[in-house]
Amino acid sequence: MSEKTNPYKVPTTGHVWDDNLAELLNEPPKWWMIGFWASIVMVVVYFVMYPSIPLVNSHFKGIIGWTSIKELKEDMQAIERSRAKYENRLSGMSAAAILADDELTQYVVRSAKVLFGDNCAGCHGTGGAGNPNFPVLVDDDWLYGGKIEDIVTSIANGRRGNMPAHAGTLSEQEIADLAKHVKALSEGGEYAPGKELYSGKGKCFACHGPEGKGMTALGAANLTDGIWRFSPGTEEAIAYTIAHGVNDQKDPKTRNAVMPKFSGKMSETDINKLAVYVYKLGGGQ
Ligand code: HEC
Ligand code: HEC
Repeated sequence: MSEKTNPYKVPTTGHVWDDNLAELLNEPPKWWMIGFWASIVMVVVYFVMYPSIPLVNSHFKGIIGWTSIKELKEDMQAIERSRAKYENRLSGMSAAAILADDELTQYVVRSAKVLFGDNCAGCHGTGGAGNPNFPVLVDDDWLYGGKIEDIVTSIANGRRGNMPAHAGTLSEQEIADLAKHVKALSEGGEYAPGKELYSGKGKCFACHGPEGKGMTALGAANLTDGIWRFSPGTEEAIAYTIAHGVNDQKDPKTRNAVMPKFSGKMSETDINKLAVYVYKLGGGQ
């Protein structure tokens, strides 16, 4: 072997390829060797501490008694403990009092999401975004008012807006004129023949107010905001509502709009939680 094939003065295995490539016997770097031995020690320690070696009918359980089920149970208990802290405070608290406490409100908004999904989303859509012919809860347009007490009442007692069918008292032409006027109202205008019926023969003002802004005590919709409770807000759809009314049992073609009552079906605490959740969806007043 020549200087040319081993210029490093390191022992070699004696193998030389192509007359000039020697295989040197350098030690691996120290950091690498430390890692190597440390990982062997880790393997032994791990084997002794944790469940490791399979036996014929069971397995070696390890000296610290760890199991994944035990770890899961401990994690669940920790979650329960952190929830109990809030849940204990919530019971007996009014929705308004919850709203006054930022920390509780945040907890409720997070935890009531599931409650809403299970009980309300079927009608009001995911996150209250609304379904055709069910009110949207994420906006600030309220049939029955957006104060926290109003929302609690809506959920606890249910709601059922009543508008009589007008097909028997108004002619088709009158209904068409009214629909034209209502459509115009929602766009900031008016339609004279319909306007006259609105305040006169139709008696619409009695529930929807002289300017069509609605009346929360009756759940009468605001007709001027361009938000349609019964979609789509076309003249035909509006005329249909006028002709057949809402929840008018005497008209088989009436629109049905019933919010079921939840008191008795869920705890008062859950109702308050949902009210805070709905309030915080964006439209609380
Ligand atoms: C079976 C369908 C249905 C279910 C389930 C339902 N709602 Fe309603 N909800 C309605 C209808 C329909 C109305 C409108 C009633 C009306 O037009 O008079 C309404 C109205 C409301 C209102 C009043 C909205 C306003 O503009 O004033 C609130 C608040 C409300 N619901 C919350 C909830 C919550 C919270 C839940 C779950 C606990 C829920 N609803 C479950 C159908 C439902
Ligand atoms: C006795 C009260 C009452 C009278 C009278 C009444 N309404 Fe209504 N109207 C309501 C209520 C309550 C609602 C909302 C129903 C609901 O959502 O549950 C409604 C809903 C409507 C809607 C649907 C609004 C939307 O967002 O889709 C229109 C349109 C409407 N009314 C027009 C009229 C017109 C026009 C007249 C006059 C011919 C009239 N109403 C008379 C109570 C009344």
